[in-house]
Amino acid sequence: MSETRVVVQADLPIGTISPRIYGQFAEHLGRCYYDGLWVGTSNTEIANTRGWRTDALQALKAMPVPLLRWPGGCYADHYHWRDGIGANRPVRLGMSCGLTVEDDNRLGTHEFLDYCKEIGAEPYLAGNMGSGTPQELCDWVEYCNTTLNTNLGKERKANGSDGPWNVKLWGVGNENWGCGGNYTAEQYALEYKRYSTMLRHVDSTAELVVCGLTDDWNRVIMHALKDHLDLVDHVSIHRYWSAGPAVDFSEEEYYKMISTSDETEPFLQSTAQIIEAVTRGRKKVGIALDEWGVWAPEAKHTCNYEQVSPLRDAIATAITFEVFHRQCNVLTLANLAQVANVLHAPVQTSGTDFWRTPTYHAFNLYAPHIGATALHTLVDGTSFCLPDGSAGVSATSSVSAVGDFTVSLINRHLDKTVQVRLTGAAGSSAAGRLLTAESPRAANSASTPNAVVPIDLDVTGDSASGWTCALPRHSIATVTVRR
Ligand code: AHR
Repeated sequence: MSETRVVVQADLPIGTISPRIYGQFAEHLGRCYYDGLWVGTSNTEIANTRGWRTDALQALKAMPVPLLRWPGGCYADHYHWRDGIGANRPVRLGMSCGLTVEDDNRLGTHEFLDYCKEIGAEPYLAGNMGSGTPQELCDWVEYCNTTLNTNLGKERKANGSDGPWNVKLWGVGNENWGCGGNYTAEQYALEYKRYSTMLRHVDSTAELVVCGLTDDWNRVIMHALKDHLDLVDHVSIHRYWSAGPAVDFSEEEYYKMISTSDETEPFLQSTAQIIEAVTRGRKKVGIALDEWGVWAPEAKHTCNYEQVSPLRDAIATAITFEVFHRQCNVLTLANLAQVANVLHAPVQTSGTDFWRTPTYHAFNLYAPHIGATALHTLVDGTSFCLPDGSAGVSATSSVSAVGDFTVSLINRHLDKTVQVRLTGAAGSSAAGRLLTAESPRAANSASTPNAVVPIDLDVTGDSASGWTCALPRHSIATVTVRR
């Protein structure tokens, strides 16, 4: 069996891994929010807590979900927040991504913020620029955050929330280059300045997210904001990828998914360079990768944007986390699309059935990194390679405030097991957890909810000679070294 060395460089910290980069996205799209998270209290046989399905609630608490974005997506630019407060809520067209449904607005601001509180997530609200007004968005911010006894503050109290929620993160539109209004970058930049100027007056501490796209678009908007850096805190970019069918992918497509996941990094780097070229240290403006994930060709609007999410997607997730950790000084938040049922979902449901996808388990395996300090991690990329010559093993590591190391490893190879020797992580004991299956096509489902679940990984050795473990083909592992 080949051996690969992984070296944790404890004296080379990168930065803090913000909880916000382990965020999720819940859009009113298909069965994500309604059905995936919410089933109501009447006429349902599904166990629920005040209407929230209990299985999803418990699973998301445990995953965990430090940040949750809502209500869209493309839905955000049709959403009028006043429809979702109070007792008499109108039935409107719920519109996103070509799906048009009746939306009775049962789930509005209070319900979403209640859910965030319940699962321990920071809320991130996406505002409506496409069909809204600056005043409408200002009013939403005031309704959520004012401590004053204004009419909106009183209305919030009358609707059941005494104290303000103090929502920090506000998106000013979503994909305004497309579904959010088909603006040009120049038009959007002008609109953004108007909206954000007004929002700043309402809440000077809100963190405002401008809609980005490609390097060209991002250059235009950053240039337009160069003398108004107080108006922007994060630049939103999205990244979806696919490589062949969700499950019946070829060997070539398996490896394509691996390399495509890695390509998230140059996109973050070029975005960071564009931001830095304008900010020049005058203001910290971060990158909000507020939609990311695998978008399989099967997930079309005709099938509610649902897809099977096999082990390969969990490996893609783990690769993306490695990128996130390396870029944690410029990436300020990220949201997987989407949290339930839709696209690259960590949890899926069908009637009373509920299961965690392998991606859920990837999030849970990497959770110990949250809030820790990312460390440079060297991998010997010559002894064990993929067919294209790139390294077969990749790794990320972090150290917690109390000095425990977490090292996460990926064996990207489709067919070969590899022995890993881990050095640089000093501690008294090490334990590991492993996620793998017979095939990267393996997935969980209603009838086989536990086909792909983490198991214990045997880790031997000590700090002096290094910790060793055998990583099976196409697997992810997390080794925790206790101080
Ligand atoms: O996540 C699904 C959709 O993808 C979102 O609504 C939109 O922002 C993006 O195009």
